Amino acid sequence: MFEPSIELYDDQVNNDFTVAILQLIFWAVLARRLYRLPFSKTAHKLRRSSRRLVVGVVVGALLVPARLFTILVMGGYGPQFAADRLWIGLPLVAVPTIFALVLTLPRLRRFAVAEVADRQAPPTPEQRLRAAAPAVTLPARAVTIGALIAFARLIFAPTPPLFIPALLTFAVAGGWILVLGRRHRARTAGADVRPMPRGGARTRRNLVGTVTVLALIAVYAAWDWQTSKLPDSYSMMDHAMTYGDGPEVSGHGHLAAGAGGAKVPSVSVADLTGPRTGVPDKRFTLTATDARMKLSSSAEVDAVVFNGQLPGPELRVREGDLVEVTLVNRTRDVPTTLHWHGVDVPNAEDGVAGVTQDAVAPGKSHTYRWIAGQTGTYWYHSHQQSSVQVRRGLFGPLVIEKADPGPANLKEFTLAAHVWDTDKGEISSLDSYDTLRRETVPAGTPVRIRLVNSDNFLKTFTLAGVPFKVTALDGNDVNAPTELSKVKLPLGGGGRYDLEFVMPAGPVRFADLAAPDAGLLITPDGKGELAPLLEAPDFDPTRYGSPRPTPFGPGSDFDRSFQLILDNKPGFFDGTPYYLWTVNGSVFPHIPMLMVREGELVKVTVVNRSFLEHPLHLHGHRVLVLSRNGKPVTGSPVWLDTVTVVDGETYELAFKADNPGVWMDHCHNLEHAAMGMTIHLAYENVHTPYLAGRATGNVPE
Ligand code: C2O
Ligand code: CU
Repeated sequence: MFEPSIELYDDQVNNDFTVAILQLIFWAVLARRLYRLPFSKTAHKLRRSSRRLVVGVVVGALLVPARLFTILVMGGYGPQFAADRLWIGLPLVAVPTIFALVLTLPRLRRFAVAEVADRQAPPTPEQRLRAAAPAVTLPARAVTIGALIAFARLIFAPTPPLFIPALLTFAVAGGWILVLGRRHRARTAGADVRPMPRGGARTRRNLVGTVTVLALIAVYAAWDWQTSKLPDSYSMMDHAMTYGDGPEVSGHGHLAAGAGGAKVPSVSVADLTGPRTGVPDKRFTLTATDARMKLSSSAEVDAVVFNGQLPGPELRVREGDLVEVTLVNRTRDVPTTLHWHGVDVPNAEDGVAGVTQDAVAPGKSHTYRWIAGQTGTYWYHSHQQSSVQVRRGLFGPLVIEKADPGPANLKEFTLAAHVWDTDKGEISSLDSYDTLRRETVPAGTPVRIRLVNSDNFLKTFTLAGVPFKVTALDGNDVNAPTELSKVKLPLGGGGRYDLEFVMPAGPVRFADLAAPDAGLLITPDGKGELAPLLEAPDFDPTRYGSPRPTPFGPGSDFDRSFQLILDNKPGFFDGTPYYLWTVNGSVFPHIPMLMVREGELVKVTVVNRSFLEHPLHLHGHRVLVLSRNGKPVTGSPVWLDTVTVVDGETYELAFKADNPGVWMDHCHNLEHAAMGMTIHLAYENVHTPYLAGRATGNVPE
């Protein structure tokens, strides 16, 4: 109903949060004043307080439409942004507010106009009894309880189905109010109002309340803490599964029921290898070592590197090649693996420690063999404790050239935008350049920049001095790209862009806006300067290039669909407290594994309700973007392996389940993955024999 602005999403969340907290504080104060009303020192004061309270109740009631407004604004981002607020949070406050208007307000108005003969006289017992009536004091307390629970719901937002959470919440609120109601009635038992507790009695009452609340929180936290702990050794197969919206598939046994109930034998991940025989077309050895490396500024990195390079060497192969890469681990104590990010290799070649192989220990080696079935810009990186190992340098670019590599004088720059921990602090760089890199390219030369974001966060790049085309997204060709100039290119962690232009007569400047003074300055003659472009509108890949037929699309019949709601909540991961990044309200290992059957067409809807973007990376498959924020893709089809869903956004994605295995599907903000933002996609008839956990030496994230 409201046109959403993704840039303003965080502000809208804050507005809603603010109204919710205002409601809580305002009504808590109101409830307290109402409760004390019968104890006014004089009848005159009782009348004066009642007048103020009339205004208070009216203002407090206005906070309901205010909250309704902020909730509807949230609803503009999609139903999942507003549903729990609208159906659970709002009624918790709105219903008792109506009671306050209907029951409390008229009584207060009566007190407010009452005749007061003697300004100094205390209220009569009858006046006090009327002021202490449950109709006067209870509704405001009920609003406060509702607002408190609604506020907690904001922090632990439930994901659909909402029926059970709603029922539970209303039961808790209703029960609490009932208990209060009985107390309020008991308050006026005799002919007089029971006095307010004072001194020791009051302290004791407050203490009991506080201790009860703290004890409840402690019990919940202890339970959450215990259940978050990962066993010393576990199999990905042990976890809960979901079949999403689609027929149940059989799950994992050694004999699984296949289509039509037929028993199909279960396949081990270890058997899903690339070709084991045959002479490779390209053969590489990547040797991992510990090294102290220098960036161009001479800042030093305590790194782990492949072949002594930072980042690792570019691997260049051609479409259709049988590729063989041997990983040799010569580090002191860094068990590692190699994952081919974006390349749909057979499952056993995927390089995920504890899922598709055991981590390669120091002194050991492991050989990967796969056929380059795609073309484009990819990268390889460690998939053992990757949040640490990739950060320290165990990654490099991987280029799969087309059979026709293009013009002979094509000049290519493959750039990895990274953030390093150095002796001078955190530094953003392109490869190892954290200072300006100058290159000379003759005018008229076709140039291609292959850009990899090897960092965790969304980065924004600009290219100034020349119109250019974005020719590929995550290695997938854009259909009929048009020329762009003065745009910012946002790229999430793990994602890639290919940019192409013809070298002009003047300088060209490529920059990562996180380090605009560094970057790449290309000139035809080695001379000249050009400032980086800093301000421009964002490039939108969903409205770029021209449509082209795809094997499936928004109108397809999907065999199965899943919904992933990304959010935050306070909680534990593996025994450590965090402000968690959750998927459908939980973190690994409690997020159910997504189950599919080979050949199925699968739809995945991703909703980001959290405070940050999440580059969701599905291994082994390319996904087609069906829609972004409810709008279909109008330009070239957008195929991605890493979908950066910005906070406030909703993506509908589709993929064909055509690569059997047990696949990681995780946030490529590797720190988030390491805190449990990790899912698996598993085929019904595939199991992994590998184990992960402290005792096994395998740390998949
Ligand atoms: Cu580039 Cu699972 O990672
Ligand atoms: Cu994330």
